[in-house]
Amino acid sequence: MMTANITESNGRLCRVCGAKILPFMSFGKMPIANGFLPPDRTASEYMFELAPAFCRGCSTVQLMEQPAREKMFHENYAFYSSTSRHMQTHFKAFSEMAVSKACTGRRDPFVVELGSNDGIMLQHFQSAGIRHLGIEPSQNVADVARAKGINTLSEFFTVELADRLVAEYGHADAMLSANVICHIPDIHSVAAGVARMLKPDGVFMFEDPYLGDMIAKTSYDQIYDEHVFIFSALSVSAAFGQHGLELVDVAPQVTHGGSMRYVLAPKGSRPVSPAVQVLYEKERAQGLNREETFVQFRRNCESSREALRDLLTSLKRDGKRVAGYGATSKSTTVLNYCGITKELIPYICDTTPIKQGKVSPGMHIPIKPYDAFTAEYPDYAVLFAWNHKSEILAKEQQYAAQGGKWVVFVPKVAVE
Ligand code: TYD
Ligand code: ZN
Repeated sequence: MMTANITESNGRLCRVCGAKILPFMSFGKMPIANGFLPPDRTASEYMFELAPAFCRGCSTVQLMEQPAREKMFHENYAFYSSTSRHMQTHFKAFSEMAVSKACTGRRDPFVVELGSNDGIMLQHFQSAGIRHLGIEPSQNVADVARAKGINTLSEFFTVELADRLVAEYGHADAMLSANVICHIPDIHSVAAGVARMLKPDGVFMFEDPYLGDMIAKTSYDQIYDEHVFIFSALSVSAAFGQHGLELVDVAPQVTHGGSMRYVLAPKGSRPVSPAVQVLYEKERAQGLNREETFVQFRRNCESSREALRDLLTSLKRDGKRVAGYGATSKSTTVLNYCGITKELIPYICDTTPIKQGKVSPGMHIPIKPYDAFTAEYPDYAVLFAWNHKSEILAKEQQYAAQGGKWVVFVPKVAVE
């Protein structure tokens, strides 16, 4: 039986329940995950300590320290949602689900999305003529949405903003969010804001990377500055329950390497699906409510780091040409935690124009346009965008046909 060797933090209390939390590992000093920077501006890069912690009181996994939100979400935010075809399909399905759960048959329904990015989800409401509002603090991505005719407000969502929005637009039938709630440290302001904004028969649906998948796959690259929480059903219920919102349904999603969709509604307003209880039991069986699980996770991360470093070092020794595929936010954790320099991975190709010509945060590996990949295939490509594996492998059949190999590191370090 393994013993836990983590001690309580003196400095930081659980953002959900106020108990002392247990930092179970440190990834060391880390830059902003989406902080791709011009090659001549690397001298004054902002760094902070990336250390996740576990709360015994409510089972929430959270960061000890998160950079100020303005350092992450601003007018040059490098993350555009609409970069993957599968994600387009995914958000179309999400919007159809929201329409059937909270819009069909209602008079003039109103839908609000928190963190609406470039409008990948709200465009479906806009084209269906449904009253909608996106809240998106990062100006550059919000401008893309506005150009598509999507109503977008560039602010951070808080309980105060919720009150102003109710006064201006009325209450919401549906509130939606994807890969955003886990970004917001003041979870109580968000939960209170949602509770105030929803109609009594309204519904709040959000999805985020799922703790159960992260533990099962050792996908530690989900841990970076933006993800202040890695949620489970147990922790979501603890956080939102304090504000009169009940978890009424859950649905696993394949997106972002394993996510969970949580459906919440004012307590007692909707029947609770049996899937919720089933998931709580599954999480307890997996140990998501026990600190030993996170001690083991830390060990798994250390083994994964060693295996990836060994593999890349031996490829270099053998004179192989190696490139990174997809300058994801997640890759910032992998590169910096594993200490992967441009000696081991000389460049990373990515389709996002704002990232190209810049260097990666921390390790300063050059980011090249996607064409650099097809123009001269490497011998090995490190699949940083592993969450899009099926889409990418289907697209890159020619690379594989010419003998190109993939280096993957989730769930295990391997060459494919
Ligand atoms: P994403 O999956 O959103 O991961 P994260 O949340 O960690 O940033 O990012 C995908 C990145 O990979 C994005 O920068 C675009 C890039 N990408 C490619 O370069 N080619 C592709 O075929 C796909 C699907 C993504
Ligand atoms: Zn707690």
